[in-house]
Amino acid sequence: MGRIVIQNVCQAYRNRRRQNRQGDDPAIGYGDSIRVLDHVDLDFADGEMVCILGPSGCGKSTLLRIIAGFEPASAGSVSIDGRRVERPGSDHIFVFQHNGLLPWMTVQENVGLGLRRMPDAEARAEKISEHIEMVELDGFEHHYPHQLSGGMQRRAELARALAVNPDILIMDEPFSGLDFLTHMKMREEVVNMHEFIGKTTIVVTHDIDDALIMGDRIVVMSERPARVKMNQSLDFSRPRDFQKDPKLNRLRRDIFLMLGVAYAV
Ligand SMILES: Nc1ncnc2c1ncn2[C@@H]1O[C@H](COP(=O)(O)OP(=O)(O)OP(=O)(O)O)[C@@H](O)[C@H]1O
Ligand SMILES: [Mg+2]
Repeated sequence: MGRIVIQNVCQAYRNRRRQNRQGDDPAIGYGDSIRVLDHVDLDFADGEMVCILGPSGCGKSTLLRIIAGFEPASAGSVSIDGRRVERPGSDHIFVFQHNGLLPWMTVQENVGLGLRRMPDAEARAEKISEHIEMVELDGFEHHYPHQLSGGMQRRAELARALAVNPDILIMDEPFSGLDFLTHMKMREEVVNMHEFIGKTTIVVTHDIDDALIMGDRIVVMSERPARVKMNQSLDFSRPRDFQKDPKLNRLRRDIFLMLGVAYAV
């Protein structure tokens, strides 16, 4: 359960003028509008890990918000398993965001947030500790977020997301601000988690290597208003190695070029 179909999605934010004038495109909006998404068509299979890249400010987070139902698109539609997304609140989607932990709750309470409706307290406690162990935070159950390092906070957030067992996991730059080693570890954690639970996962990242290492599919967006510039499934075996796989290395170089960097670093 987790096929996502995005059809012809446009998004524009209006500024001052609200009236229609000749030449305005109703799909985009009227007046001094800023066009963010321009006829975006995408289709993600159930269980796919999709990585989205694109220049800063092109509309990636906007697209995620529309998929999660947090805001309506100006035009077009998003449907999940054939059902149109119209509002948030679906238990099937979890949006992973940094600083998403509630500061007045312990790790244990934060991880248990999405399980409040589980009637059996024992089963609930078991599920919480299982997920805390999964991200190697055992021993820190009673710590508050400010008593954890940045990487530990991120792992607690991941445990919280996974405990909910969503059909779709949405992650907007999940590794930003992490030191190199924690970044690598978290990335591995997310890949393992995905292999283990097999849920549709959408990851927006600025890191081309993250996208190529993690993704079953890679989507590259253009400058704003964002269109889909590349939408390609990545049929490379794992673990992936740029040095050893010339085809993967070539794709990496192409994406650097596509994003306006003349040479791959
Ligand atoms: N609610 C809003 N009202 C007006 N403009 C908005 C709104 N939300 C986003 N924008 C504009 O839409 C554009 C895209 O924003 P968005 O956050 O989706 O970009 P992004 O691709 O996620 O960028 P980054 O990589 O820097 O996170 C930006 O120019 C932003 O100013
Ligand atoms: Mg963003």
